[in-house]
Amino acid sequence: MALQAPVTDANTPLFSSALVSPDVVSELPEGYKCRPLQRSDYHNGFLDVLRVLTTVGDVTEQQWNERYEWMAHHNDEYFLLCITDAANHIVGTGALLVERKFIHNLGLVGHIEDIAVAKDQQGKKLGLRIIQALDFVAEKVGCYKSILDCSEANEGFYVKCGFKRAGLEMAHYY
Ligand code: ACO
Repeated sequence: MALQAPVTDANTPLFSSALVSPDVVSELPEGYKCRPLQRSDYHNGFLDVLRVLTTVGDVTEQQWNERYEWMAHHNDEYFLLCITDAANHIVGTGALLVERKFIHNLGLVGHIEDIAVAKDQQGKKLGLRIIQALDFVAEKVGCYKSILDCSEANEGFYVKCGFKRAGLEMAHYY
């Protein structure tokens, strides 16, 4: 699959829409969509949704564009998707990063990151759909597993999504 196309306009999907799970799309509430991120999402609530997860900071549109362009040139590695409501406003997002290894016969590992659902949209299975959509991408691009770090408070959510506890996270902050 050609995944290296330069970003030519604000509404070009970050990655191929063929990687969006049809099953997830069919399970969403009426009028909701699941799609790859696009550059114009700076104006569509993407950063506000991430604010339910953690500090985002004041990201200018130029900074956004530069980061987005970088991701668009690495779109065989960075898969950010979002769920929009009936008004096409972003209400949920998640990311899959694909790590290329030497071990396991040049295996690919998916890293699930930055899952967030807008406060007033939680409890509608949108978080579950985001994980299912990222799992679909991971399988399609050839990952043999996907892993993630989360707080104890979110363990139950990921168990409901089919994950199981495996190991222990450690960190150095710089
Ligand atoms: N603990 C236990 N179970 C939970 C939790 C939780 N914290 N959250 C949801 N569930 C359950 C739901 O009750 C539901 O169960 P059911 O199938 O029996 O009804 C199931 O998990 C699916 O829930 P959803 O409705 O899909 O969850 P939601 O859309 O509210 O999204 C999420 C969950 C993403 C954790 C959301 O609450 C959120 O955005 N929280 C703030 C940001 C955050 O903490 N993100 C995760 C960070 S970890 C990471 O990014 C890798």
